[in-house]
Amino acid sequence: MSLLTAAMTVRENAYVPYSRFKVGAAIRATSGKVHVGCNVENAAYPEGTCAEAGAIAAMIAAGDTRIAEVLVIADCPAPVPPCGGCRQKLAEFGAGDVKVTLCTTDGQALTTTIADLLPGAFTTAHMDSV
Ligand code: THU
Repeated sequence: MSLLTAAMTVRENAYVPYSRFKVGAAIRATSGKVHVGCNVENAAYPEGTCAEAGAIAAMIAAGDTRIAEVLVIADCPAPVPPCGGCRQKLAEFGAGDVKVTLCTTDGQALTTTIADLLPGAFTTAHMDSV
């Protein structure tokens, strides 16, 4: 299945009673398997989780650990930008040159990379002196 179809399909399951803003994310792992996630909100607002975080959790639960490609989709005036926390989460599991495609439900798409989304990412290398 294409990442676009996978992300569009899972987006329909988003639990968004507070924002009404449905997001779908699909990750192709280096194994070739596709893992999906949608945003899941909570009455205690900070406990909500983003679509990207859900897709990463599904990937890890399925036994994959490395991201080969990512696609995120939302009903947005411009390609949906991942939040700061999700940029850090993507950087944990994907190389800087991993392609990230940000989409709108009306057909816009912006292709970027994990490194471009999070310049100067904090990594384990920054703890080498510890
Ligand atoms: N959201 C995502 O799931 N991913 C993004 O890339 C941007 C924001 C969610 C979080 C929240 O449920 C809703 O969109 C509004 O912020």
